[in-house]
Amino acid sequence: MDLYEYQARDLFEAHGVPVLAGIVAQTPEEAKAAAEQIGGTVVVKAQVKVGGRGKAGGVKLAKSADEAYEHAQAILGMDIKGHTVSRVMIAQGAEIAEEYYFSILLDRANRNYLAMCSKEGGVEIEQLAEERPEALARVNFDPNTGVTAEVAKDIAQQAGFPAEQHEELAQVFQQLWTVFSEEDATLVEVNPLVKTGEGKIIALDGKVTVDENADFRNPAHADLVDESAEDPLEAKAKANDLNYVKLDGQVGIIGNGAGLVMSTLDVVAYAGEAHDGVKPANFLDIGGGASAEVMANGLDVILGDDQVESVFVNVFGGITSCDAVANGIVKALEILGDTATKPLVVRLDGNNVEEGRRILAEANHPLVTTADTMDAGADKAAELANSALANK
Ligand SMILES: Nc1ncnc2c1ncn2[C@@H]1O[C@H](COP(=O)(O)OP(=O)(O)O)[C@@H](O)[C@H]1O
Ligand SMILES: [Mg+2]
Repeated sequence: MDLYEYQARDLFEAHGVPVLAGIVAQTPEEAKAAAEQIGGTVVVKAQVKVGGRGKAGGVKLAKSADEAYEHAQAILGMDIKGHTVSRVMIAQGAEIAEEYYFSILLDRANRNYLAMCSKEGGVEIEQLAEERPEALARVNFDPNTGVTAEVAKDIAQQAGFPAEQHEELAQVFQQLWTVFSEEDATLVEVNPLVKTGEGKIIALDGKVTVDENADFRNPAHADLVDESAEDPLEAKAKANDLNYVKLDGQVGIIGNGAGLVMSTLDVVAYAGEAHDGVKPANFLDIGGGASAEVMANGLDVILGDDQVESVFVNVFGGITSCDAVANGIVKALEILGDTATKPLVVRLDGNNVEEGRRILAEANHPLVTTADTMDAGADKAAELANSALANK
């Protein structure tokens, strides 16, 4: 889960990372009150989970509370790269002497953790990495020992900071490592990390991604979820413990097990090429226990996606055998009744497949077509989606 800047700021503060005062506001009035509380020059910052807010006009300096009101009025409701701004953060204004870059992330390719640091922050780091890779220090470190004082100083040195800055920078790097490790993050990025006019190091922006797999040991993270911004279907799936991902094609996909679901996506995308390029609309992994209820919940979520024109149910019977899955589908369609309107292609294989196919044949539901192989099923689902589109 990606966090908002203000949430990252709060975590930074809780772990001792130097930050400036920041107060969230949802209305211009709240923004004005926050600016008065902080006092002096403030910065009105759009809170959206996307970078480059400054360039998009979502970060504005205000010399007075009235000016903060005006900026908040302009920024609230703004669209930044497809994200609507519903909150701003009023941050204390910093007197910036220099802008740096620092991040800690999972280095999946090297199966390690990686710290990246540059004296040239504030800019798009991807661009820096591409155009002047030598200006971006990359230091891998052992996850078990983390960013020790030694590692932290090494990072500062490799980024080319002068010796007199190493001590203070190293301390901030270590504090940011504490955020990363104690909050079970997969990314902590500070861009810019600044040196103020007085020579103090401060984290002025913060991007944190926490690992949802570790939610069980971070009960406080539940409060960080922004339910208002969640996709309603994803929320519904999550509430039913289903893994659902929205994509932008037309064929809904239900499968059991991550591997099968992933390969079904590929096969449907491939089959779609022969049917005017229809693509997967979403995918949902119903996991091991494909009971009628789980299947009904899954179908309900998939059919709730307006973009879906057909559904491909691709299940391999293992622990839950095919007859149970077939019964699940039949009962699910009963439960859903008239709300189920899109054609379903079902491919079953594995444990007790004959009985599963028999149950589907006997039910003879008008929306259901069966397929014997994954390729045939994908092709049929793509064809049905395409003809539904053509009839619109
Ligand atoms: N509190 C602040 N005081 C002064 N300048 C700021 C402050 N916060 C951000 N800025 C300036 O605005 C720029 C963009 O802000 P930032 O928070 O990095 O947003 P984004 O990365 O989304 O553009 C920063 O590089 C910095 O120059
Ligand atoms: Mg930034």
